[in-house]
Amino acid sequence: MNKNNPIGFLDSGIGGLTVVKAAQEQLPNEQFMYIGDTARMPYGPRPAQEVIDYTFQMANFLIETKNIKLLVIACNTATARALPLLQAKLSIPVIGVIQSGAEAAVRMTKSNHIGLIATQGTVTSGIYEKEMAKLAPNVVIQAQPEPDFVTLVENDDYQSEHAKKLVANHLSHFADNTVDTLILGCTHFPLLAPFIQSAVGSQVKLIDAGAETVTVVSQYLDTHNLHSDVVHGHDHDIYHTTGDKVLFEKIATNWLSRAQPLDVRHLVITN
Ligand code: SIN
Repeated sequence: MNKNNPIGFLDSGIGGLTVVKAAQEQLPNEQFMYIGDTARMPYGPRPAQEVIDYTFQMANFLIETKNIKLLVIACNTATARALPLLQAKLSIPVIGVIQSGAEAAVRMTKSNHIGLIATQGTVTSGIYEKEMAKLAPNVVIQAQPEPDFVTLVENDDYQSEHAKKLVANHLSHFADNTVDTLILGCTHFPLLAPFIQSAVGSQVKLIDAGAETVTVVSQYLDTHNLHSDVVHGHDHDIYHTTGDKVLFEKIATNWLSRAQPLDVRHLVITN
């Protein structure tokens, strides 16, 4: 394994860029290769087998053409459906976003009442409940699917008055002081964090499951002596989308706020 090879990130679309943003801050020497399967998003309502197939297709693209040394599944739905299979079958280390989000929530809660907002696929899988039950059997979890939030982000509508109202309508019941910790169980949701925080109130701590994962990635690189010794500085990161390149570039440029223009490429996929 060459330690100077890039790290791969995959998501159903734009959401994984919230993990990339945290990783660009914490891992300045690494180079990143990103793929967002925007043409086939959302993954949340899709059957588990379809999510597994698409995730393998994206992972194989990064492994075969970009020579990545480690893969981050920067998508909760793909992590929920495919992580153990990817870890068993791929030749490189694979890290998902759910375990570290679950751990952070259990660490943070004082009331032992944790809220979870995620896609239908992640909620149905029960994976957060399983992970948290291993760590703290007494924790009560209130899980709520929020597929509309994914659409707001992918349509670049996440800063609008409409988005603010929709988030408030869906989440203001979390302000009743029962839940003290809310997991953003979809990597798209941190883009809506200001609206989510104002809907649930400042007493509720938001857990960004993706950002928590970057610490796990960094620890893995430490333990396995895999930190790059070339300073890449993230100006040569490459972003691939299977969907609309112009829209992807607009949202990515706005969210990542990098000084250099982003290298965004369109990838044609076949089902
Ligand atoms: C989706 O594609 O439905 C959202 C992806 C996620 O779960 O993070």
